[in-house]
Amino acid sequence: MAEELKIKEGSSKEDLYLALYPQLKSLVESEEDLIANMANISSALKETFSFFWVGYYRVIGERLVLGPFQGPIACTSIAFGKGVCGNSWKEKRTIIVPDVELYPGHIACSSLSRSEIVVPVIKENKVIAVLDIDSSELDSFDEIDAVNLEKICLLL
Ligand code: SME
Repeated sequence: MAEELKIKEGSSKEDLYLALYPQLKSLVESEEDLIANMANISSALKETFSFFWVGYYRVIGERLVLGPFQGPIACTSIAFGKGVCGNSWKEKRTIIVPDVELYPGHIACSSLSRSEIVVPVIKENKVIAVLDIDSSELDSFDEIDAVNLEKICLLL
């Protein structure tokens, strides 16, 4: 197992994802535990991109429950169809929010969060968790993030 990430500073976003993916793949392939893998993926994404908050919410019964994350403390429970996370679960799709203030029903865990992306983790056609990333800048996420984060979520 790699003990530290090998990421070249100054690379483009696409190149950072390209460098990160095989390292995450080998980390996840060497461990079966979902929580351990979510924890390392959260850490790697936070470290590589300096996002404000990176973490998972797991589907437990009728709600999303806070899982492994990196960043300030966050709300612990989100109902189906509520907020960006609950909608990503309901609609089984990635949601990009360029400005959280313009997203109806956005759940503000921190007033410092300005834009957000949520990617569902799907196993056997069921959403088992969502990956949530918050940025302190407006409009931080695009299709490059969506495609690469979806690929990373398939590792779980
Ligand atoms: N903003 C999210 C809630 C989770 S926090 O951002 C960590 C939402 O609207 O679902």
